[in-house]
Amino acid sequence: MIVDERMVTYINSLDVGNTPFLDELERQACEDYVPIIRREMQSFLKVLLTVHRPKKILEVGTAVGFSTLLMSEYTGEDCHITTIEKYEKRIPIARENFKKAGREDRITLLEGDAMEILKELQGSFDFIFMDAAKGQYIHFLPEVLRLLGTGGILVSDNVLQDGDIIESRFAVERRNRTIYKRMRDYLYELKHNEQLLTTIIPIGDGATVSIKRERA
Ligand SMILES: C[S@@+](CC[C@H](N)C(=O)[O-])C[C@H]1O[C@@H](n2cnc3c(N)ncnc32)[C@H](O)[C@@H]1O
Repeated sequence: MIVDERMVTYINSLDVGNTPFLDELERQACEDYVPIIRREMQSFLKVLLTVHRPKKILEVGTAVGFSTLLMSEYTGEDCHITTIEKYEKRIPIARENFKKAGREDRITLLEGDAMEILKELQGSFDFIFMDAAKGQYIHFLPEVLRLLGTGGILVSDNVLQDGDIIESRFAVERRNRTIYKRMRDYLYELKHNEQLLTTIIPIGDGATVSIKRERA
């Protein structure tokens, strides 16, 4: 945990929750060990979406559709969300959840590996939420940048990996070393890419917000 646990507990204790459907979906996801966005990230997204009012959202990493449906609650009827998931077991559950919530018309679920799907996508999105395999963010970035419209916002979740990305490589399990290295490369790129203006925020498991600048 990158923020003091008692502080997080306190902040989350003030949270008013979501719709009964989303609250139940969150409870079920926790019971089934499906990773979904934390309360702090939920709150953050709600505010950001209300301010930015996107019309076209792209999400990378649907899981069972919790964050997709949460984003649909905080955007207008005229906002369409495209979301990508590759894990076959989660895809039918997400589809069913979109149907139960009556949001199928506003959500398109694309099945398969984001690396392939992103290459095929056309048009531009005004909000992109990156929440898939952390070691792949750096590889998704060129396509994500192509798909993000000027003035569009890119939010990436879990970028600080419970604080482990700043540990010495010797203090980190071998299998995680590559992921952390790639995440550090990703953060460096977000901060140094001339097309982006990025802030790294230590909430939840670490998040970034990047805005795509006008070309000079
Ligand atoms: C943290 S979960 C997403 C949680 C979801 N955004 C939420 O908060 O409700 C990450 C998901 O990304 C999917 N994923 C990981 N790598 C992917 C890839 N390369 N292409 C598509 N989906 C991927 C995983 O199968 C997993 O279900």
